[in-house]
Amino acid sequence: MPATVIVGAQWGDEGKGKIVDLLAQGSDVVCRYQGGPNAGHTIVRDGETFALHHVPSGILYPGKVCVIGAGCVVDPALLVRELDGLESRGIATDGLRVSGNAHLIMPWHVAIDSASERRLGKLQIGTTRRGIGPAYADKAARLGIRVQDILDPKILRQKFETALAEKNALLDEPLEPGDLADRMEECAVRLRPYVADTSLLVDRALREGKQVLLEGAQGTLLDLDHGTYPFVTSSNPTAGAAATGVGIGPTRIERVLGVAKAYVTRVGEGPFPTEIEGPDQDRVRELGHEYGTTTGRERRCGWLDLVGLRFAARVNGMTLLALTKLDVLSAFDELPVCVRYRLPDGSETDEFPAHQSDFHHARPVYETLPGWREPLDDVLEVDGLPDAARRYIEFVEEALDVPVCMIGTGAERERVVTAPGQPAYSRS
Ligand code: IMP
Repeated sequence: MPATVIVGAQWGDEGKGKIVDLLAQGSDVVCRYQGGPNAGHTIVRDGETFALHHVPSGILYPGKVCVIGAGCVVDPALLVRELDGLESRGIATDGLRVSGNAHLIMPWHVAIDSASERRLGKLQIGTTRRGIGPAYADKAARLGIRVQDILDPKILRQKFETALAEKNALLDEPLEPGDLADRMEECAVRLRPYVADTSLLVDRALREGKQVLLEGAQGTLLDLDHGTYPFVTSSNPTAGAAATGVGIGPTRIERVLGVAKAYVTRVGEGPFPTEIEGPDQDRVRELGHEYGTTTGRERRCGWLDLVGLRFAARVNGMTLLALTKLDVLSAFDELPVCVRYRLPDGSETDEFPAHQSDFHHARPVYETLPGWREPLDDVLEVDGLPDAARRYIEFVEEALDVPVCMIGTGAERERVVTAPGQPAYSRS
């Protein structure tokens, strides 16, 4: 059975958690392939809210195998806290498997992340300060500490000594390798049973005909290679990275489901052509509860950007799109949708600018679509949507040449309508 990738099509926070949660019902294995605790998925289930940072949301279903793949970075203390939190609410965590090749986020990575943001001042990236960039930097420099190192206390101790000989010079408060090893041993004992060869596990599952879901964190425009560098994260959320991040071949992936909000949000710094000016931005934020799951920061809000979305369709090879939070737009009489960018030389383009200066200075060219001005609370199927809402969706499909397969109409799990004729994801 081929694998399905779920990828954020904007700057993250598109509502992937809810879509993954829905699709996880019909899946056997749910994997994270990149990122770390910079991600935050909020899932509302039976009135209970779960905010997950490390663990794939499939954990909420008994019997699912959940994988943290080799392409992820793991903060061991945070992962332990998350597991304890789930167990205290009666959720079994024995289905979790963590790749031994994933890298660990260490206290010095967190300290360096914050210190470099402070140093950058006005030029800061606006990171989540979870140590993501410094951990991936050490991985690339081949200085990283991996999950498999926790299997052997002696190796872990040696690695701390080597790393701290260099890192302590960068820290305001130097760390003592022995102390850290003692503290880490508690986490190590707790996490050891979860460490596994997850590439082999996923390959076997696929050979046995099982459904595998590969869940991206962040979004396309935060991709280290294809996003709005340097205002990006330090991994590759785009779909191509799903294969590497989990350790399977790209030929095993059949479907790439992009997830986009019916508008756009961005946290952190960086250019954002469709950012709304004036009170409508606050209205979208309040109605959409646009505050970060991980940091609580206010999200910047903008109108739907089809130039960015077409780019996401291209670089991910998107085969389907889920459009979330359509209900938030019910409050507006008119809905501007960005169809082209106007560049500094006066020309217009519907392709995402390849050069940073063009993107930084791009101005949105809007087409204004009529709003529907009715709540979507009782909508159970696409045919039940107001005409103007259906037109909005069709406008997106035509611009992207990608079918919209699911539409989010509210925060709760059941508030998603599936377009007729789209692949059935759930076997139930
Ligand atoms: P980092 O991933 O913490 O290094 O942050 C780099 C950039 O990615 C910053 O602009 C963050 O706000 C953004 N970012 C990281 N994770 C997320 C996410 O899950 N949602 C939205 N933005 C994110």
